[in-house]
Amino acid sequence: MVSKFSAPRGTADILPLTIPLWQNIEYKARSVFHLYGYKEIRTPYFEELDLFCRSMGESSDVVRKQMLHLTSQQVEDVPQEEKKGLTLRPEGTASVIRSYIENNLDKQEGLSKLFYIGPMFRGERPQKGRLRQFHQIGAEAIGPESCDPLLDAEIIALSTQILNELGLKSYQLKINSLGTSEDKQMFSRLLREQLNPLRSSLCQDCQVRFELNILRVLDCKNKSCQSLIKGLNLTDAYLSEESRQYFLEVRKALDNLKISYEISLQLVRGLDYYTHTVFEISHSQLGSQDALGAGGRYNNLVGDLGGPSVDAVGFALGIERIILAMPEDQNKPVSGSIESFLIVLDDKAIERAFCLLQDLRKERISCEMSFKPSSLKSQMRLANKLQAQYVLILGEEELTQNKISLKEMKTGQQEKIGLSEIISVLKNKKKRIDSCCGHTPAVN
Ligand code: HAM
Repeated sequence: MVSKFSAPRGTADILPLTIPLWQNIEYKARSVFHLYGYKEIRTPYFEELDLFCRSMGESSDVVRKQMLHLTSQQVEDVPQEEKKGLTLRPEGTASVIRSYIENNLDKQEGLSKLFYIGPMFRGERPQKGRLRQFHQIGAEAIGPESCDPLLDAEIIALSTQILNELGLKSYQLKINSLGTSEDKQMFSRLLREQLNPLRSSLCQDCQVRFELNILRVLDCKNKSCQSLIKGLNLTDAYLSEESRQYFLEVRKALDNLKISYEISLQLVRGLDYYTHTVFEISHSQLGSQDALGAGGRYNNLVGDLGGPSVDAVGFALGIERIILAMPEDQNKPVSGSIESFLIVLDDKAIERAFCLLQDLRKERISCEMSFKPSSLKSQMRLANKLQAQYVLILGEEELTQNKISLKEMKTGQQEKIGLSEIISVLKNKKKRIDSCCGHTPAVN
């Protein structure tokens, strides 16, 4: 027996009936980005490995364990910089910053507000809500002297507006401040003092984190580490007065916008680049992989990657997790409908019908027909399956009269129309429907 192929582990096909749901999510996200003045950017799906090592941090779980590397078969032809290794992008931030620097976007506008929607790749152990190829909706605001509490609050408001418009309600927003790089160092020192006596009780991963980046211990999902962390006396004593004031203003802005949040001193985020505000949005319906999205400020990354010294803040939401958390009546697969189905009852009518089919499509009226004439009953069944709004019937009688029968499926009303008029009749009907329903394009 010939063996069949399956999609690689941790990936999923998005089948035609689910595509309208994805298009709707993308359409709503794009429209919210437009409201906030964000423009789309598309970067390659793979980048130099070093980009992620230097941005997310060599010691981050993503870089240590989850990178999906590309190997080239033609090593001799590969340019020197690519020999260091190419890898599928595990997130969008580093790529956007690479592009911002490479294309001198800082010279084009004061504040670059960029968004992206697309696949990301992480070699994680797959489970519900955790895939190896998943999709993010993300945004980054980058620009000189853009470190402003209102911009942090705006980015949080933007991410929650997308979730709200998608009908998500019971999500929780957690925020924290890591302060400046110096504050982060102080945070690490204070944490080290508390964790040192407990070190041997930490899980294997946290033993490594203790050495490489101790703050990540706070992010550990291991149950025994979690209970150990709960017993720590975490405070924000590491924050300088300026950082504390900054965070206070972020919170004040969120309060004014009536965005509810919880301050979590444990929230440190798993990636190295963050400074000041960090946030995470979780949903109880998601189980152990409960983060719908996350983000924060990262003021040093552009400079660290060789660019100008400008500030930045951003977020990313996971589309697969959004779908899991959406109300059930909204995340079901739906079959789309077509406008018309052309039924041909006579072999002699096929040529004429085929030309009409193309003419309708040129006039942007969606239409299908069966190329092999069968009984009226079986073709009506097909038209129903495709949810056609109108059926056009071309039989021997119609052909001799140079007419076509038009049946409106909703009302059952049927009339004969001159073949030369059918396109304008359907176009007028379409115009009437569009103007009374307010047509929403599926794709923007
Ligand atoms: P992140 O927390 O690594 O942050 O990912 C953001 C979101 O992507 C997660 O909250 C989750 O919804 C989704 N996600 C991550 N990994 C997976 C996975 N394996 N399977 C399914 N969904 C997943 C970032 O990526 C940062 N770049 C966010 C950011 C933008 N910070 C500043 N700007």
